Amino acid sequence: MDKFIIKGPVKLKGEVNISGSKNAALPILFSSLLIKEIIEIKNIPRLKDIDVVIKLFLNLGVKIKNGKSLIINTRNLYTNFNFPENLIKSIRASIWLISPLLVRFKKINISLPGGCSIGMRPIDLHIKYLKKLGANIYIKNNRIIASINKNFIGSHIIMKKNSVGATISIILAAIYAQNITIIDNAAKEPEIKDLIHFLKTMGANIKGEGTNQIIIKGVLKLKGGVYTIMDDRIETGTFLIAAAISKGYIICKNTNPQNLKIVLKKLKYTGADIKTGKNWCSINMNNKKPKAVNIITGPYPSFPTDMQPQFTLLNCIALGKSIIQETIFENRFLYIHELIKMGAKIFIKNNKVFCRGIKSLYSAKIKATDLRASISLVLAGCIAKGKTIVNNVNYIDRGYENIENKLISLGAKIKRLENK
Ligand code: UD1
Repeated sequence: MDKFIIKGPVKLKGEVNISGSKNAALPILFSSLLIKEIIEIKNIPRLKDIDVVIKLFLNLGVKIKNGKSLIINTRNLYTNFNFPENLIKSIRASIWLISPLLVRFKKINISLPGGCSIGMRPIDLHIKYLKKLGANIYIKNNRIIASINKNFIGSHIIMKKNSVGATISIILAAIYAQNITIIDNAAKEPEIKDLIHFLKTMGANIKGEGTNQIIIKGVLKLKGGVYTIMDDRIETGTFLIAAAISKGYIICKNTNPQNLKIVLKKLKYTGADIKTGKNWCSINMNNKKPKAVNIITGPYPSFPTDMQPQFTLLNCIALGKSIIQETIFENRFLYIHELIKMGAKIFIKNNKVFCRGIKSLYSAKIKATDLRASISLVLAGCIAKGKTIVNNVNYIDRGYENIENKLISLGAKIKRLENK
């Protein structure tokens, strides 16, 4: 794995262009397997996770033109596809192969997905609800084996847990299903809204996006078209934190602040001067340190778990004490041991992090453990005194496009050492 050598402290300031959203691009790409006409996807983020999908698609026989946008033609797929297990296991999102491939082939046998090590990440809800929609589906020897008769069959699903991933699996299964599918207690994340806008642009009959009841009426055909992926709200939030912890000021461009209301509210509470426009937002700390802030993560519109490690870092150097409670993933605190190596006064009890802000972090040799943890450790290196070495930074390439160049353009001193 690669490492970053980071020299700090620096003040991060300037303008940054926010990339397309990873968590919207992934389900949109998988849903394109439901469409047999040509699709052009714009604003696709250039990330490792997207490369994995492209490789999976090439295994399936999808024709892809990978230029400024991604042009996809899924009309003729190989029937004898065989995905390399390491590819499937390298991303959690490969779970979204199941519904479209069942629609296309009626029968599948693929290995279980993987993803970041932030908790157990079960797939019981995906399985349960696809069964409810008529699939015969079970897990054997770490593989998912599933079949449907002719079609999925619409049903009324009341989700027991508000799962982004399972909501998406159901939507993808319901697009061509016989009858109507109603999902109650559906996830409301903006990325799901974006997926539904994409599918509607291509002819799907879906109502209720952005609410907790989604209604899908099966259609006979989706058509091709052009779609632009929404901006990455977590990337925006991450750059706002970069300014907040370094007494800096940053303008994020090409981003919709409406999707970040709770994050902006918490940042205002820290004392940050936040300004927003239609497709930009800015933060200015006016040379002040942030005040510590309490957070409880939850499904949208509550505080996003994907911003938890960044706010924990903020609390490490903020004025005062704080508590952060993680309610989504039970193992999302691995990176905290690395922050402690940098001097953070912090301890974990059950799903809560108790923190007392200190004057500054010091440099150390640390190790990234997952995607959002790795960006927090890199930002910690930017504000720590001295030379910080962050090992295993490849996680960061899964979800942040062109990250070191973006940070360098804001004043960071980062060098990547590749481990070939
Ligand atoms: C997605 C996002 C991830 C984000 C998360 C929560 C993608 C590619 N990933 O992950 O960045 O952190 O939403 O906003 O979009 N659960 C079950 N059984 C299941 C599925 C989920 O118990 O079958 C549980 C999970 O363990 C977790 C909770 O439901 O406790 C929410 O997980 P979910 O919303 O499904 O997260 P992902 O879709 O994996």
